[in-house]
Amino acid sequence: MTTKIAVIGGDGTGPEVTAEALKVLKAVSQLEGFDYTLHDFDFGGERYLRTGEILPEGAVQELSEIDAIFLGAVGHPDVAPGILEKGLLLELRFQLDQYINLRPVKLYPGVETPLAGKGTDDIDFVVVRENTEDLYCGVGGFMKKGTADEVASQTALYSRKGCERCLRWAFEFTQRRNNPKGKMLTLVAKTNVLTYGHDLWWRTFEEVAQDYPDVKADYNHVDACCMWMVKNPEYYDVIVTTNMFGDIITDLGAMIQGGMGVAAGGNINPDPGGTSMFEPMGGSAPKYTGRNVINPIAAIAAMQMLIEHAGHTRAAERVLSAIQKVTGEKMKSQAAGQMGYGTSEVGDLVCESLS
Ligand code: IPM
Ligand code: MN
Repeated sequence: MTTKIAVIGGDGTGPEVTAEALKVLKAVSQLEGFDYTLHDFDFGGERYLRTGEILPEGAVQELSEIDAIFLGAVGHPDVAPGILEKGLLLELRFQLDQYINLRPVKLYPGVETPLAGKGTDDIDFVVVRENTEDLYCGVGGFMKKGTADEVASQTALYSRKGCERCLRWAFEFTQRRNNPKGKMLTLVAKTNVLTYGHDLWWRTFEEVAQDYPDVKADYNHVDACCMWMVKNPEYYDVIVTTNMFGDIITDLGAMIQGGMGVAAGGNINPDPGGTSMFEPMGGSAPKYTGRNVINPIAAIAAMQMLIEHAGHTRAAERVLSAIQKVTGEKMKSQAAGQMGYGTSEVGDLVCESLS
């Protein structure tokens, strides 16, 4: 079966890191013998400034017929912050019902973590973030806007269906991950304060857990989770959490795994025929554009997730080992301009390390 992949290189350094990810995809597809087709979309800041539209008419429909999307980066210095993020990234997550945001927090060999005394065995867990509800649903409003009496509200919405489908997927993912240290799913929420919304999450979690007796069902409040992620990251196997908390703790996760240069994520619609989207976590880093200094490892890791999602398990394992070889044996640092190699050389090194 041929996998149809949409490519949105996006803004700033997005296209540069995307090119390296595509290079690795091409090399591994030749070694493993699988087929794919690429479909380019020029969405992002440049197009928005030119045409005034972020996602043109019919784009979502077109993307929904594709197997997977690779997204380089969005964010343009001449476009107010939030416009492209909302108009492209969040819009695609919602419209394509990508209800899982999957964020592996994995320290690769040779990568520096700010956590003293922690190594690759200690920092290796996955965050499953609900990706369509919560404070992200855009429900709220103003009263007496712009006056001294102004009131603003922003409502978190949680549906039974929304939390149940996310929790079930997280339990099944924990089973598949099959951690030799023991299968454990930690719900991260704030049940002591959010006594309605997170009560729904908690009750649903307890109920769904009955169907997965081989997975230890565990719970942390979100503030304690931030503490444990820094103090004892080896405690975690899989974390499942709400959209807003997931947003926050995954940036903490990205830092302990060595920064935005290495962190990748997937926006997954697990339903049959669903379209999922994979992206490096770093932004468009406009100041590094065109200088061949940006780190492509996160983009290559996002491609690795896409390949795995497309069912090419062996190819995905091969890309993962190649990344680990390059970070462990070649690169001097994961910071832009300090890698010891240029962007395209890092891509070449990963390709060479595939065999
Ligand atoms: C992320 C990002 C987005 C989010 C922004 C860009 C809207 O921070 O993918 O984590 O908040 O989800
Ligand atoms: Mn975020």
